[in-house]
Amino acid sequence: MTSAPSRTVRIGVLGGGTVAAPVVGLLRERAADLAVQAGARLEVVAVAVADVAKQRPDAVPGALVTGDATAVVADPTVDVVVELIGGVDVAGPLVRAALEAGKPVVTANKALLASPEGARLRSLARSRGVDLLYEAAVAGAIPLVRALRQSLTGERIVRVMGIVNGTTNYLLTKMDEGDEPYEAVLAEAQRLGLAERDPTADVAGYDAAAKAAILAGVAFGYDVSVDQVHCEGITSIEQPDVAFARRSGHVIKLLAVVERLGVGSVSVRVHPTLVSRHHPLAGVRDAFNAVFVEGEAAGELMLYGQGAGGLPTASAVVGDVIDAARNLLSGTTAPTPERSPVHLEPLEGLRSRYYVRLDVEDRPGVLGAVATAFGHHGVSISSMEQETPERLADEEGAAGRDAAGMARLLFVTHEATTGDVVATLDDLGGVPGVVRVANAVRILPWGRG
Ligand SMILES: NC(=O)c1ccc[n+]([C@@H]2O[C@H](COP(=O)([O-])OP(=O)(O)OC[C@H]3O[C@@H](n4cnc5c(N)ncnc54)[C@H](OP(=O)(O)O)[C@@H]3O)[C@@H](O)[C@H]2O)c1
Repeated sequence: MTSAPSRTVRIGVLGGGTVAAPVVGLLRERAADLAVQAGARLEVVAVAVADVAKQRPDAVPGALVTGDATAVVADPTVDVVVELIGGVDVAGPLVRAALEAGKPVVTANKALLASPEGARLRSLARSRGVDLLYEAAVAGAIPLVRALRQSLTGERIVRVMGIVNGTTNYLLTKMDEGDEPYEAVLAEAQRLGLAERDPTADVAGYDAAAKAAILAGVAFGYDVSVDQVHCEGITSIEQPDVAFARRSGHVIKLLAVVERLGVGSVSVRVHPTLVSRHHPLAGVRDAFNAVFVEGEAAGELMLYGQGAGGLPTASAVVGDVIDAARNLLSGTTAPTPERSPVHLEPLEGLRSRYYVRLDVEDRPGVLGAVATAFGHHGVSISSMEQETPERLADEEGAAGRDAAGMARLLFVTHEATTGDVVATLDDLGGVPGVVRVANAVRILPWGRG
């Protein structure tokens, strides 16, 4: 029989919401097992919240709740701080104060970690020899940060590419499964609690961009902030794009991509992508996340699981709390190599095939002018489909009939650089007879040069 550890690590939790409540619940309900794992009793001594009068789940005892997060951080008897408030303005100073006091911090706060203050906090933690752990900040329950930092530490990572936003993956999955337009699947996701009332951070790609920035640090050791990440969201994806992807053996996914390009040079970006249905990422559906890691020696690996939600995220937080407690007791810290300066490669040189959708007037001469615009920039067309007014009317009923006299052109290009495709799209906007450059989406795979 294992005897109970004699030591106690006292934990101050900042936040009592979606993630913090199950963190407190797991730490208390599984206290005996976790004590064996950590080598110490893990005792939650305070839960700081904004509104002490708010009704909390049973997992959060009222006696632990306080409205003073600053006092929790400053309490000399608190050994480890778990920050689950979110955002930069409130959480940033609290995390800083904890690290300055020599207290390990566990956080799930991607916004903070991907901000310029996040880089300063990592540097502070390193210089003070204190843990700043954030497994839960990227892809929730998926053990990605630890896998990259520890299991793959001897590996030269070439690329990390994944579906790291569950909301957008759910929306794209539902658009692929049915014929519902974007607005309808978004409304349903909001009703189910899978999308925020203001979904901008998810659908514009900002949430995935923050995770890409964090991954650039973990995989390659570069400090990248969210505002340096090239970011295209899914708001331009419409049912004709999804239908084209399906007919051509693809599925549209919002990918976060972190690629090593040369010494000190990386590409960090988020954009929708047509992925072959044979690619492992194509099978990642609904709100699930998956991250595809490519290493020089290890080859391709994929990690898959629940990327968000209170309990899955809490599981990753508790894992970090155990690591922080163990390290505290043994006087060590998790490996955090010094970050190096980075050059972020602009997208102009990125080469891939493209899918392009145009709405045009259905009259002679337009197609020729469109082809000339592609040719002018050296973007060669691999295939083209034309959907006539009759077909649009069949497919889209009244909306299609309103579009009488219009045609839809769907192109797939041969491999071309982003720079040339963007220049082509700019020109196409001014071609007489082109009513709308509706969409342009990269097709996996891609390369440079
Ligand atoms: N939810 C997820 O699925 C998920 C997944 C991965 C990562 N994360 C990250 O986890 C963190 C927490 O997210 P969440 O979804 O749990 O957020 P949440 O449900 O909104 O909870 C935030 C908590 O912070 C408390 N709070 C706000 N201001 C405070 C202050 N000044 N002092 C003390 N407490 C304060 C709130 O108190 P009241 O309860 O009194 O309002 C609330 O309990 C964020 O960084 C988020 O990005 C969340």
